This record gives sequence, structure tokens and C-alpha cells, in this order.
Amino acid sequence: MTNRVKIETTGHEFTVNSDESVLDAAIRQGIHLPYGCRNGKCGKCKGKVVQGEVKYDEELAALSEADKAIGMALFCQAKPLTDLVIESREAETARDIPVVKLPCRLEVLEKLNHDVMYLKLKLPETERMQFLAGQYIDFLLPDGKHRSFSIANAPHNDDCIELHIRHIADGKFTTGVFANMKVKQMFRIEGPHGNFYIREKSNKPMIFMAGGTGFAPIKGMVEHALNAKMERPIHIYWGARALEDLYMDSEAQKFTKLNPLIKYTPVLSNPKDEDNWQGRTGYVHEAILQDYPDLSNYEVYGAGPPAMVYAAEDAFAAAGLEKENYISDAFEFNKD
Ligand SMILES: Cc1cc2nc3c(=O)[nH]c(=O)nc-3n(C[C@H](O)[C@H](O)[C@H](O)COP(=O)(O)OP(=O)(O)OC[C@H]3O[C@@H](n4cnc5c(N)ncnc54)[C@H](O)[C@@H]3O)c2cc1C
Ligand code: FES
Repeated sequence: MTNRVKIETTGHEFTVNSDESVLDAAIRQGIHLPYGCRNGKCGKCKGKVVQGEVKYDEELAALSEADKAIGMALFCQAKPLTDLVIESREAETARDIPVVKLPCRLEVLEKLNHDVMYLKLKLPETERMQFLAGQYIDFLLPDGKHRSFSIANAPHNDDCIELHIRHIADGKFTTGVFANMKVKQMFRIEGPHGNFYIREKSNKPMIFMAGGTGFAPIKGMVEHALNAKMERPIHIYWGARALEDLYMDSEAQKFTKLNPLIKYTPVLSNPKDEDNWQGRTGYVHEAILQDYPDLSNYEVYGAGPPAMVYAAEDAFAAAGLEKENYISDAFEFNKD
């Protein structure tokens, strides 16, 4: 049996399956209700049930009798018995989401190609980091320094953080990732950070421009768009030097099979002879401009090397892209 939930303040609606909590259902459908632990302990998911009834599997310390008497509920634990109308904040911008520091354990470490490593960080069972698809985390290093990496998964899979880390020659942290990082190693991370996330109030078609590991946040954003059943066209462009640098090409191809509104164009700047490359060549932002000479009605999201992000900004502005419709993350090195 499913019940419908309507959020009174925004009018957004979603369905909750039997034995599912209101929060789990919201996250599954790409609705950003606030939360912290997802475990009935912190109270951050508290909101009001305006109409309808919910049940709990157990007594919850974070929900007092006085709370219940005025209709308050902990949505991470509350399971609807009827259709509901609720009052709750919805995160629309990064400012609506708290930045937290969490311990995490490296669960998967896998080389994706000659210079990109895949990391899966497992968060504690009882703590979560709420984030918007596309944001980034910082590794907090023992010497007080930090290193930034974009989250490559979408918030509906928030029990872990996935990262794509490129090795920087002589880079202190990334050299360690390739040389001596070990599964089960513990880290401290801080996040989420950044303004690189989908502007969900807009209905403009979106162009996603990734350079190298800039594919990481773009992947998270596409997964979120699919999960939230967004009905906006998406054209992913992924720029890399040679074929081996498109380290998740099949993943990007797969997106186009999952939704006909998604297109994917890889662009190589320096293909090798053995690549036998028949596809697009040159700089990725130039390929976008060839296909979309008038960008006045688009939103463009660009992530990756600073040179690409900044060159594209000027070129896209000349093609009519409004300043606020260019959302970007330049992968600068962290200043120690
Ligand atoms: C918002 C954001 C998101 C990001 N997301 C990703 C991502 O998803 N994936 C990814 O791969 N990268 C990402 N990056 C980039 C990533 O943070 C950097 O590549 C990383 O911090 C490099 O760390 P490092 O310790 O290995 O390099 P560092 O040791 O910081 O070295 C960086 C460079 O500086 C040079 N250098 C260091 N010290 C000196 C010195 N004293 N004098 C001169 N040169 C020096 C090094 O030789 C190297 O070329 C992101 C960056 C930002 C800001
Ligand atoms: S009580 Fe922490 S998220 Fe619900």
C-alpha cells in the first residue's frame, strides 16, 4: 500500500511505500527534506503533520509528548497510516544544509584508469551527511590541511560518499591515494561544501560540461535528475585528452539509455592513434558552442580544470548565456 504526502509550504508531493519512513521516501524521490542522523536521535528531521496520521516502530527520545501533542513528527522514523499533509522546510540551496565533520572508513579503492582512483567512503551507521548532488567534501588531514573532492554519487545513496580522484604529479595527498592508501583506513571529512548543484526551480534545458574528473559531480547530478524524474533535457559533454581518460564512458552512455531526454557527447583534445577515435575532437567548450551557438535559453554546469571552466565562462557569455545560468566548480589546488 502507498500513501501520498503533500508538503504544504511548497506543494511538492511524493508517495510513501508501506513500511517506509516519510524521509526515506522523500530522499528516494529527490525531495530535500532536512535531516541529520536518519536514526531518530538528532531531531533535525522534525516537522509537523497538518493532516493525517503516522506511526512509529518504537519510542523516540528526540520526540517529546509535548511535541506529539502539537502534531510534530520525526520524519526519519514516521511511517504514514494515511495520506499526509506536512509542514517541513525543504533544502533548495546549499545554505539550507548544515556542514558537518564526520569520521569515515575507506570501503572501496579501485583504479579507474592510469591516473584516476575510485574511492567509496562509508559513513557511520548512525550519522549522515545531507548534501545536494554536485557538492564537494574536504578531507581533513592530520596536519590541519584539507583537500577538496566532489561527491560522485547522488543523495538518495547517502550511506556512502563516492569520489573520483586524479593523481597530481608531486601532489602530497593524491600521491598518497595511489601509493599507500588502504581499504579500512579511517579519515575525517567535512562537508557538504559548494554551490555546484542543480537549480531545481528552473525549467531550462541543462548542458553539463565535465573536464577529466569533473565527471564526478556531473555523474551525481545526472543520477539525482534521473531519480527525481526531472523532465528537463540534459546534454552531457565530457572533455578529456585521450580515450583512456574517459574513465566511465560506459556509465555516461548508460544514462542516455535510461532517459531519452539525456544526450552524451565525449570530446577528445588529443586522441592517440590507437584510439581510432571517430568522435568529436578539440576543446569541450568549443564543441558545446558548435552545437549551441545561442545559449540564451540554457543553464550550463561546468566542472573540472580551472582553465576549461574560465575559458568557457567568457565564451559562453559571448554566446548569450546569462551569468547566473553558468554554474561552475573550478578544480583549483587547495592552498595550504
Ligand atoms: C571544489 C573542488 C572540487 C574538486 N573536486 C575534485 C574531484 O572530484 N576530483 C579530483 O581529482 N580533483 C578535484 N579537485 C582538485 C583537488 O582538490 C586537487 O587536485 C587536490 O587538492 C590536489 O591535492 P594534492 O595534495 O595531491 O596536491 P598538492 O600537494 O596540493 O599539489 C598541487 C600542485 O601544486 C604543486 N605544488 C605543491 N607544493 C608546491 C610548492 N611549494 N611550490 C610550487 N608548487 C607546488 C604540486 O606539484 C602540484 O602540481 C577539486 C578541487 C576543488 C577546489
Ligand atoms: S532524528 Fe535525526 S534525522 Fe531524524
